[in-house]
Amino acid sequence: MREYMFYFKSALLVSAFCLLPEIVFATEDEAFTESVVIFNTICAKCHEAQCSGRLSFDDSFEASVNHIVRYYGEASEKKWLQRELFVILNHMKEQCAYYPMPTPIPPQRVWSGEMLEKMAMLVERNYFIPIGSFTPGRYQLELKLAKDAKVTVHLVSETFDMVVEDCYFSSDRRIVVPFSIEEGGNHYVRIYPRKPVQITRLAITPLAQSSVILEEDDSYVIVEVKGEHKLEDPIVKAKQEFAEQIAVASGMQYKIIGGQEA
Ligand code: HEC
Repeated sequence: MREYMFYFKSALLVSAFCLLPEIVFATEDEAFTESVVIFNTICAKCHEAQCSGRLSFDDSFEASVNHIVRYYGEASEKKWLQRELFVILNHMKEQCAYYPMPTPIPPQRVWSGEMLEKMAMLVERNYFIPIGSFTPGRYQLELKLAKDAKVTVHLVSETFDMVVEDCYFSSDRRIVVPFSIEEGGNHYVRIYPRKPVQITRLAITPLAQSSVILEEDDSYVIVEVKGEHKLEDPIVKAKQEFAEQIAVASGMQYKIIGGQEA
């Protein structure tokens, strides 16, 4: 009986040990994810799309410590962070891809502040967010911020094509960025606030394409939805005039409306 108890206790102990590493991994995972965000927002300025396939050797790690610290001072006392950044650079070189992040894409493509927290740098508040796979079409990205701020937004494809690269000033703590995807595949959002600010929500929604609506009096209306900031765009205006001529000639009406009215 005594012996039994002993085995039972040690079995408990073993299972406790088995549980422990999982807990450790969970926090390690988050720390590593922050390193991926650091690499993809700071180091990527020069090392993005560096796809030599050639790995860097350990001695080049020692040689590059000063270099790493020059671009990210916070890493100076953190040997583990320098190592992780080195591992992530090697992944970029070998796989020609961003390091995979264990962050799920919400089904409706609406991220809460809490979800975004895991894809942010704690102090500087740079964000790197995998937004999932897109088919070609027009979309709108909406950001909500904890306070009004100036931020640079990048939207990058998995082949490192920049779809959006612009600076925005929020109004009412909100930024709306319409964009077009021409080549399908995974995409990523990168956010650099001028001053640290928390992003409290990110939502990406498809924008309606031009569509033909049958009005009550049996005439047709072609409705084109454009992002608000594009309404004054000379190309959009020229397109509007041309479409109006065609529409009138064929007994249709052409209406152009802002993305927010749609
Ligand atoms: C302003 C551009 C720039 C930035 C920013 C930058 N690097 Fe570099 N890095 C270079 C250049 C140029 C080289 C030398 C050429 C090469 O090997 O690609 C280099 C080399 C390296 C090497 C040695 C690579 C090898 O193959 O031997 C490592 C490691 C490295 N960088 C890591 C980083 C990390 C980590 C960051 C972010 C904290 C970073 N770099 C930020 C430009 C940059």
